Amino acid sequence: MSLRTRVHALRPSNVVHQTRVVGKASIRTKDVDDVIHQNDEEPGAIAEGGGGGLQKRLKANDLIGFGIGIVIGTGIFTLTGVQAKNAAGPGIVISFLVAGVVAALAAVCYAELAAAVPTAGSSYTYAYTTIGEIFAWIIAWDLILEFALGSAVVARGWSGYLQDMFDLPTRWFGEDAVVNVGAVFIVLVVGVVATIGIRESKIVTNALVLIKVAVCIFVIVVGAFYVKAANFSPFIPPSQDGKDLSELKQPLWQWITGADPTAFGVAGMLSAAAVVFFAYSGFEAVANLGEETEKPGRDMPRGLIGTLAICTVLYALVCLVLTGMVNYTEISEGAPISNAFTVVGLDWANVLVNIAAIAGLTSVLLVEIVALGRIGFAVSRDGLIPKGVGEIHPRFHTPARFSIGVTIFIAVLAAVIPLDALAEMVSIGTLFALFVVAIAVIVLRRTKPTMKRPFRVPQVPIVPILAAVLCVALMTNLATETWLRFIVWFAAGILIYALYGFRHSKLRRRA
Ligand code: ALA
Repeated sequence: MSLRTRVHALRPSNVVHQTRVVGKASIRTKDVDDVIHQNDEEPGAIAEGGGGGLQKRLKANDLIGFGIGIVIGTGIFTLTGVQAKNAAGPGIVISFLVAGVVAALAAVCYAELAAAVPTAGSSYTYAYTTIGEIFAWIIAWDLILEFALGSAVVARGWSGYLQDMFDLPTRWFGEDAVVNVGAVFIVLVVGVVATIGIRESKIVTNALVLIKVAVCIFVIVVGAFYVKAANFSPFIPPSQDGKDLSELKQPLWQWITGADPTAFGVAGMLSAAAVVFFAYSGFEAVANLGEETEKPGRDMPRGLIGTLAICTVLYALVCLVLTGMVNYTEISEGAPISNAFTVVGLDWANVLVNIAAIAGLTSVLLVEIVALGRIGFAVSRDGLIPKGVGEIHPRFHTPARFSIGVTIFIAVLAAVIPLDALAEMVSIGTLFALFVVAIAVIVLRRTKPTMKRPFRVPQVPIVPILAAVLCVALMTNLATETWLRFIVWFAAGILIYALYGFRHSKLRRRA
């Protein structure tokens, strides 16, 4: 699958063409039927793949290939090591499994909406058609958080692997850098590429997906020979006094209940589960390919669940092998996977893993930055941010202004903010968006009971409620400071809506 298709999948823009107004003021919603049909009416508003009805040729396997391409990244290549070393020990495998189960439940909810509103671009549209404009804006604002901070995480992961490969100065590369020059460099390069509209070819994209999967299998198969049972003991390191943890670094639930700060133990494993949820972020993009899917009712749930199942199995096995090869206390935080091979004396394998990680992470970064441009384009076309911000550049055919702006923003974040703090923000943002989608499934069943649903979530409302509750439960395992940052981000979004979007919204002007 080409990047062009992948980018289209991340493009909420193909659904923001307007429609009828239902409701009033900030709870005004788009009409689902109009959203479904709008794609036939809409001319190609953006460079590639715009409107006009795309061919329905994708099957479940294509969706899974696409999903793996976007999902596997820094989460497994770097965060595994950071969280095993600092929070979960070998129990990191359980953290990944817990996060995978929550992601799978949310994916089932996504599948119903993606199959029912097959032209829909993202949770942004689901929210616009169900619970109203202000929620749609919050989701879009949240998606910007997810992709911008996610890009910064991937860039820092990239820098760590580059440092390990060429033994570059840790002052400038990897997690110990005060200013992570390596991360800034790759963000700027990829940002320019995304802005001027260069795309990966289909062959390169497919090759990179294969390389990522192959390297995970390589790590599992070769690394398994170097696993020492002693490294698994203790599997869940006992809870330690976390006096050196500031209150704000405690998970929210500990802060609320006034519990003493701890590190490791079951609590550490659960907080790691919330952080490594980052590793699954991006799977929602599969849901946005509904319009190009042969039989969305059949292929969408298979594509989503298949992606998550494969990623979960690969993640769990890589975690087991990594923590079995190297004692968790000695895992490298910059390039944990490749470094594990150096520790066991396989330098050639270290080089192989480094090359694969660097290539794979570059491609995830490109998709994320291109996707951000599409989100900016969509919300500006809906009038929720000034039109000029998301305008398409006449020569590059990309939302160049927005792309340049976010590239600079990402570069600044990637320069100075630690990888795990950024990943926590992505996790909270993604979990929040999934929470909204789960609620949207329940709302839409009531407000649109007769809508055609090629795929139905079983046991409604139990499954969506369970998904929503588990999303919130994982969120409460994130640090209190992450919540504070998220609230500040959220408040800034509400302010922008109140001061600008509310009045300039295309929906309002047509009402
Ligand atoms: N899930 C993606 C990663 O792990 C964003 O890098």
